[in-house]
Amino acid sequence: MQHIYHHDLPVDDRGYYGRFGGAYIPEILHRNVELLKEAYYSAIDDPRFIGQFNLLLHDYVGRPSPLYKARKLSEYYRTNIYLKREDLNHTGAHKINNAIGSVLLAKRMGKSSIIAETGAGQHGVATATICSLMDMNCIVYMGATDIARQQPNVERMKMLGAEVRQVTSGNGTLKDATNEAINHWCRHPDSFYVIGSTVGPHPYPEMVARFQSVISEEIKKQLYEHIGRENPDYVIACIGGGSNAAGAFYHFIDNPEVKLIAAEAAGLGIDSGMTAATIHTGSEGIIHGSRTMVMHTADGQIAEPYSISAGLDYPGIGPLHAHLASTGRTETIAVTDREALDAAMRLTRVEGIIPALESAHALGVLDRRKFAPDEVVVINLSGRGDKDINTYLKYCDDAQY
Ligand SMILES: Cc1ncc(COP(=O)(O)O)c(C=O)c1O
Repeated sequence: MQHIYHHDLPVDDRGYYGRFGGAYIPEILHRNVELLKEAYYSAIDDPRFIGQFNLLLHDYVGRPSPLYKARKLSEYYRTNIYLKREDLNHTGAHKINNAIGSVLLAKRMGKSSIIAETGAGQHGVATATICSLMDMNCIVYMGATDIARQQPNVERMKMLGAEVRQVTSGNGTLKDATNEAINHWCRHPDSFYVIGSTVGPHPYPEMVARFQSVISEEIKKQLYEHIGRENPDYVIACIGGGSNAAGAFYHFIDNPEVKLIAAEAAGLGIDSGMTAATIHTGSEGIIHGSRTMVMHTADGQIAEPYSISAGLDYPGIGPLHAHLASTGRTETIAVTDREALDAAMRLTRVEGIIPALESAHALGVLDRRKFAPDEVVVINLSGRGDKDINTYLKYCDDAQY
């Protein structure tokens, strides 16, 4: 049975990772965020809470997710590639780890109404799933563009009993859904906001990272079983707000021998104006309650992002990742739509695994970076591609696969 490590992220008591983070929130939410902080720190010190969390991860999600040695992909790239199979989790992505921890915490705080935002729909589905398991009312905000491109997940949320509220402001993507969820939270401060990534005011980035840290906890044990050592040479993960990357990096952050690579979404290219590559094109600013890297327009407004992948289509990034990138702890590679689609097709045809479009950006790093034949590369396969089938089919037609 796993345990959540009481491992220190590089974060201070006010939620700052270096100069990034904090809690920039309207007065009306102040008390709720304070109560959340108290409840969270008391919960993670309570063996009963940790026991409930671990039991659900094991019996309901199906953890530990396998660490799979992708032999054919390894041969193709002439290195040693291991895939952390978060795609095999119940509901199809890493998002369920955080949804379980957060909704358990909401229950412990006596809440009965849950709100969430979603981009690709995976966090919405995960939250709706746990709400149905725990008899909670669930409202999910989702942008109109994302509703159109991630239709199967919209139907799943409805089937699970959640109310999906369409957001038409901005370009109808994750940023806009998050704005509306925060507006709802301000109007109903007693509801519990389950944030789907390592973004938002403190303690959310820390809390979500900790609920996801089971990923790197398992990687260490599983890699040891495979090759007799706990530490790979590289861990690669895609980065939207940064929750799967935070989970995959967590227990390696303090070990500089393990190189960490974050794959952000370049969209049509980092200089195209159609991108979601926040680290490459952003500057410091405040978004959704924390100081971090943000994509801005020339006159200082938050820019409309673009990526083929709904889960990476976001103009910010969690403060942990802004810090890790600014200190050189992570290397960030911007992977285009096209490179991600190519990488997704390669995994599908070589290993028989259809990845989520988000995870395909992490796989795209393999074409951009050379790894030595004796190096060990772990890629976090954050989710499965069922939700993206229509996009893939269109690409296959265009590319005449
Ligand atoms: C499968 C999958 N991977 C990655 C992401 C990106 O989110 P994060 O950066 O929080 O892991 C999403 C978001 O929807 C997702 O569905």
